[in-house]
Amino acid sequence: MSTYDFTTLRSRLHMGASKWVPMERAGVTDPDVIPFSVADMDLLVAPEIIAAIREAADFGVYGYTGMDEAFRAALIGWMERRHGWTVDPGWLVSNFGVVHAAGQAIHAFTKPGDAIVTQTPAYPPFKRITENSGRTFLANPLRRTDRGYELDLNHLEDLCRRPETKLLFLCSPHNPTGRVWTREELTAIAHICRRNGVLIFSDEIHCDFIAPGHTHTVLATLDEETAHNCIMGTSASKTFNLAGLATATTIIPDQGLRRQFRAKTDGYTGGFNGYFGLAASRAAYEHGEPWLSAFLEHLKGNFELCKAFLADRFPSVWTAPWEGTYLLWADFSSLGLDPEAQMRFMRDEAGLWLDEGTMFGPEGIGFERFVLACPRHHLEKALERLDDAARRQGLPR
Ligand SMILES: Cc1ncc(COP(=O)(O)O)c(C=O)c1O
Repeated sequence: MSTYDFTTLRSRLHMGASKWVPMERAGVTDPDVIPFSVADMDLLVAPEIIAAIREAADFGVYGYTGMDEAFRAALIGWMERRHGWTVDPGWLVSNFGVVHAAGQAIHAFTKPGDAIVTQTPAYPPFKRITENSGRTFLANPLRRTDRGYELDLNHLEDLCRRPETKLLFLCSPHNPTGRVWTREELTAIAHICRRNGVLIFSDEIHCDFIAPGHTHTVLATLDEETAHNCIMGTSASKTFNLAGLATATTIIPDQGLRRQFRAKTDGYTGGFNGYFGLAASRAAYEHGEPWLSAFLEHLKGNFELCKAFLADRFPSVWTAPWEGTYLLWADFSSLGLDPEAQMRFMRDEAGLWLDEGTMFGPEGIGFERFVLACPRHHLEKALERLDDAARRQGLPR
């Protein structure tokens, strides 16, 4: 039995919480209905982090703040212990978020008209920030097999060979499919990119949620050449549920790339972080491991519950194997509903607020993405509502 609390739920209705706002707008007030959409946790933050925020609050002065030595040491210690990566303090650059860093990478390393590749289905901001910056978004669709998703490396090579392709947004582990790329897969991607002069922005924000039997490989640890052809986006925000504190770090081993990136980030934002975000992230990196271990046990239980439930009551629904992330990616196309009707069914009939698969691109049609970082009893109730609604509507399963 965990000493941490993974059962208390704080309703975030009427607080501007991105995940809860759509439900709020629909007038949902049932306390048993919670959203499973945006990737943050409906769980309490580790007490060690709350204590650090309190201490920072008591200090009483919250001026512009950047990384200090203690923060750098804490992050470096985390990367060394958890991921076997020795990071130099000089490689760290401050950002307000990993998406912010990805956006800065677009401006630092590409020009309008250039193309950026990513594996699809894809975390929606990759396409949005690419197109909003006047760059071309190139999809490298993953291939779905019975075992799960696989890379299409030949297609990736074709896309990278195009002269306008300058950047790859690599999502590792992969949102939404939950794939944890193997060392061999990462090596193949890294070689294709190097051969074709394509830089990699490696978004490793989900790197601490790895299912038993899988291993996350930090891209930059593959070899020296790869370390000098990638920049890594990371943050304690996903691992420890601190997204509202807007603090992330970009790790860039290559000095030239770092200078180029810095010229954009520091030029736009002064290179600082959130005062509370730094305090909380430092505490997370220094003291968060026991909480994370307990959370991973809780998460495993939530995945097992969902998988068993769907296998029993919705045998025609395919779910991607859980390798990493806290995201369950499930194909409900056997219900026979078009995307709008599927969303209406989930929300209005089942009281399930999910991220619709279509948000992740055409490969997501028929899919739903569930964030499983929540109290188990709410998940159980949500699944029972899904079963009831499908029965009422007489949907095929
Ligand atoms: C793959 C991925 N990258 C980045 C983010 C967001 O990061 P940030 O809040 O630091 O911009 C998310 C959040 O869901 C994500 O899933």
